Amino acid sequence: MSPKAIEWHIHTFKEIDSTQRIAKNLAADGAPEGTVVVAETQSEGRGRAGRRWFSPPGGLWLSAVFRPTITPTDVQKMTLAVGVAATRAIVRSTGLMANLKWPNDVQIGYRKVCGILTEASVKSGVVEFLVVGVGINANVDLATLPPDLRPTTTSLKYELKREIPIEKLTNALLLELQKEYASLSGGLFAPILADWRALTNTLGNWVEVQTPNKTIDGFAEDLDHDGALILRLADGSRVTVIAGDALLRRKHHFNQS
Ligand code: BTN
Repeated sequence: MSPKAIEWHIHTFKEIDSTQRIAKNLAADGAPEGTVVVAETQSEGRGRAGRRWFSPPGGLWLSAVFRPTITPTDVQKMTLAVGVAATRAIVRSTGLMANLKWPNDVQIGYRKVCGILTEASVKSGVVEFLVVGVGINANVDLATLPPDLRPTTTSLKYELKREIPIEKLTNALLLELQKEYASLSGGLFAPILADWRALTNTLGNWVEVQTPNKTIDGFAEDLDHDGALILRLADGSRVTVIAGDALLRRKHHFNQS
């Protein structure tokens, strides 16, 4: 596989319902790979698992279209690659310490600063396009967030005690996305996995993973070669989780019997 060099075609909006919806429509109408939709605010921002994504002014709300030659089972690889890109962009443009919580929430001090939504259009078992949505609470005032989100959410402005230029953050994100995508499309997933492992706060911790059908408690041992999470359960058995939401638990002990 040869790495794909991506060229960005950027559409900017002041306020729209969701950059993800617009990008998906553009992609379905044949928009090229590298089509990017950015908005200053979203009235109906979309999160993972059908959740709402609160998108006030000051954030970076961006969706990008990719047309990789991958199978649906490889979509998780792109999800992790985008997580690495977003974390790097945040670290490089702010100097803050940021970590990845599996699969791809970016956290600062265990509070979420960035969410990623990867959506695939699959036809006859083939990935037609991917739309990757990245939401970064950049210059967001925490006081503008709904109260239930405040304890678990942070923003770059809150952490830095100053505003950061959104353009600088956007450029950093697009550059890192370019690099990770070149690696992935060139068939090089191992370096992405290595970077993900170096940036995560999930491995080596007890977690509670909510999957679409159940909640699993286990020790996060590693990722497998496809990016699925390998959990060791209290009875010593291992399970591999492909998709879900992880909650980090600070303490847990194995039964000694
Ligand atoms: C999550 O639930 O963690 C994912 C949040 C993804 C939010 C971004 S903001 C830009 C893009 N447009 C949307 O409507 N959602 C994504």
